[in-house]
Amino acid sequence: MLQLETAGYKTLDQLRSRGEFPPRWSKIEELERLTDSFMERFRQERFEVSKELGPGFVFSELIEQMVRTSEREHMDDETKPDGERLESVRALDRMNRMTLAYEHQCDLLMPLIGELGRARKPVSILELAAGSGGLTFALAERARKAGIEVRIIASDIVPAMIDEGNRQATERNLPVSFRLLNAFDFEGVEPGSVDLVLISQSLHHFTPGQLALMIAQAKRHGASAFVGLDGFRSLLLIGGVPLVAGLQGIGEFTLDGLTSARKFYSGIELDIIAAIATGKEAHQVSCSWPMTVLHVPLKPPTGP
Ligand SMILES: C[S@@+](CC[C@H](N)C(=O)[O-])C[C@H]1O[C@@H](n2cnc3c(N)ncnc32)[C@H](O)[C@@H]1O
Repeated sequence: MLQLETAGYKTLDQLRSRGEFPPRWSKIEELERLTDSFMERFRQERFEVSKELGPGFVFSELIEQMVRTSEREHMDDETKPDGERLESVRALDRMNRMTLAYEHQCDLLMPLIGELGRARKPVSILELAAGSGGLTFALAERARKAGIEVRIIASDIVPAMIDEGNRQATERNLPVSFRLLNAFDFEGVEPGSVDLVLISQSLHHFTPGQLALMIAQAKRHGASAFVGLDGFRSLLLIGGVPLVAGLQGIGEFTLDGLTSARKFYSGIELDIIAAIATGKEAHQVSCSWPMTVLHVPLKPPTGP
């Protein structure tokens, strides 16, 4: 219900036929604001289109507006001690293990990593907003089993997560390292040093403009692809995520589950963000329940 595809694609067609989509930008400094204001406008126009389509569509829009929030998760609260934020991502890591989420995410990513590995060894992967690094570790293990040489940098904005991640990487002897990085500024990332930029279960922590910046930065830094994985925007997950998160009996983590599910992007919104960031529509957005997968090819993989 919350994907609002009929009204959304009709709105996008109208904007495209008026030459307004995707909006053009030339300086990266413009991109964040341009994307945020376009998304705002798209949502307003979609409401008008829904009114033309009939009461059922307006009803879905009203539910969407009731559900949508821009509240921040507790785990993003900068006033909290790092240790508490680390505890939140540890709880998420336990939930991901329990629901076999990492297996699912690795299944989705390994074909692309294998393809990149045919052109370049090792495949260099940068995970943004990696939290505990559970996915990074799972991918490194999978690649080792598959005989694909990888080097993975897991990044996050919380120093305690970086220290803990590096401690575990040494212990587990995997080709993984952790570094402090703001996901949308790529400061200090060497151009040409990354093949695949990855972000999982975190897209909803960022504004449309910040996500567009990430994709544009990945392209500027010479990556072959950007992949974003996140929860599928749906009423089922708005009930289901806090329910599963609640099994650990941690109040704030349960509430974060609810906030997150209310913020998940719809497929069409990710479509819009990728189109603005790249100026093209060569990306794919798909559903691999319970996840939405955004795959943005940025350039053909090249050899060393
Ligand atoms: C929901 S957690 C996801 C963690 C991990 N990807 C996972 O699936 O377990 C969101 C993560 O985004 C990080 N984060 C929030 N703002 C960030 C920023 N500006 N740059 C980098 N990481 C950020 C948080 O510290 C947190 O670890």
